[in-house]
Amino acid sequence: MEKFVISGPQRLHGEVTISGAKNAVVAIIPATLLSSGVCVIENIPNISDVTALFKILDHMGAKVRLINKNTVEIDSSEITDPVVSYENAKSLRASYYFLGALLGRNKRASVSMPGGCNFGVRPIDQHIKGFEALGAQTTIDSGMINARADHLIGAHIYFDVVSVGATINVMLAAVKAKGLTVLENAAKEPHIVDLANFLNSMGADIRGAGTDVIKIHGVDMLHGTSYSIIPDQIEAGTYMVAAAATGGDVLIKNVIPKHLESITDKLIKAGATVEEFDDSIRVSRTGPIHRVNLKTLPHPGFPTDMQPQFTAMLTMASGTSIVTEGVWDNRFRYVDELRRMGAEIQVDGKVAVIEGIEQLTGAPVKACDLRAGAAMLIAALMAQGTTEIEDIHYIERGYENVVEKFRGLGAIIRRQVLPDPAMPKAL
Ligand code: EPZ
Repeated sequence: MEKFVISGPQRLHGEVTISGAKNAVVAIIPATLLSSGVCVIENIPNISDVTALFKILDHMGAKVRLINKNTVEIDSSEITDPVVSYENAKSLRASYYFLGALLGRNKRASVSMPGGCNFGVRPIDQHIKGFEALGAQTTIDSGMINARADHLIGAHIYFDVVSVGATINVMLAAVKAKGLTVLENAAKEPHIVDLANFLNSMGADIRGAGTDVIKIHGVDMLHGTSYSIIPDQIEAGTYMVAAAATGGDVLIKNVIPKHLESITDKLIKAGATVEEFDDSIRVSRTGPIHRVNLKTLPHPGFPTDMQPQFTAMLTMASGTSIVTEGVWDNRFRYVDELRRMGAEIQVDGKVAVIEGIEQLTGAPVKACDLRAGAAMLIAALMAQGTTEIEDIHYIERGYENVVEKFRGLGAIIRRQVLPDPAMPKAL
């Protein structure tokens, strides 16, 4: 067990380079199962979610070979055991993408119910609705989701809610189905487009990704490919908010500014200066943090995965901010941790009212989930004194080299190994 120890307050300055997108790569790695050739994938972030997915592929009998730190070669042509066990699925939500990928490949899939961040109920009814519309039968038995079909036939599917996971999973299952599949009310996140581009580079015929209607003409076979993952929108957004929150000046490199527009807009309203370049963005702030109201929404709205980080910044805004969570039922659990640092926040259901205070103070806190952990990092950099963040394994699910990157920006942060509670104390 490890924790981060951070001394603040610290203005961030300098340059940071953004890694490949976690939520794209976690779909693209399972998608390699649909290929009958070898896939070389570049710009893979070195995060624990990726390691967990490689382990699942390895258990299935795929050949996974690291060419260098951020490039991997995957040969899934021979699979011996197409099952994802509880042990392998429990740490991450994205393990459920093996359902769509295996169904598309073998017409049958058996995957343990997924784990991942806990934001209350996380149903998968829309995934199941999509698989069944394509002709699969699904059952849930002893914690395993099983899907099988004699044939997958293209269908017209209207999602009742906008779901990133259902859009991706049904796309994976439909890509080799017979005929045309039309997904309506589809999610439009950048990682949906990246997955479609990846599949098209293997010979798929997917059009409309990035809009709410996606058309998929099924193909018989997908070949190998070489592909580079897009930069991570949320990692970029996290460093943008960290720069603004600390009154810093940071150039964030390897980004797609278009993906960051909703974050940029709110940062400008909060008093930051944001300059966009072709593939980088500079964020600075000299004046006070202004109060801001925001509501999270599916893309292109303000991303729910940036809500905790932004809330952390607003704890020191001048005035009262209102943050409304429009995607998840229960994504304010981390607020208790910010309160330990002196933040004044009231939560009523999906709405948080944040009274800006003069100064946060360092405290022992924990990362409740991945983005909540990122919020704690930002709060720690703003706070006077030392903050210790426990449960950092959540943060490492999605942020590559987070200590090194923040240190490169001037943060005083170190990783400390915690004594194993099971070990007897030395006399
Ligand atoms: C993805 O989760 C991301 N995870 C999440 O990011 C992100 O918060 C979320 O999309 C929204 O952008 C990955 O990409 C691995 P959804 P996902 O299906 O796909 C409801 C992070 O921090 N819903 O778009 O699980 C659901 O309850 C992670 O990187 C149904 O009702 O989210 C929620 O209210 C955390 N039925 C809403 O839709 C369904 O069948 C959006 O969920 C599916 C979802």
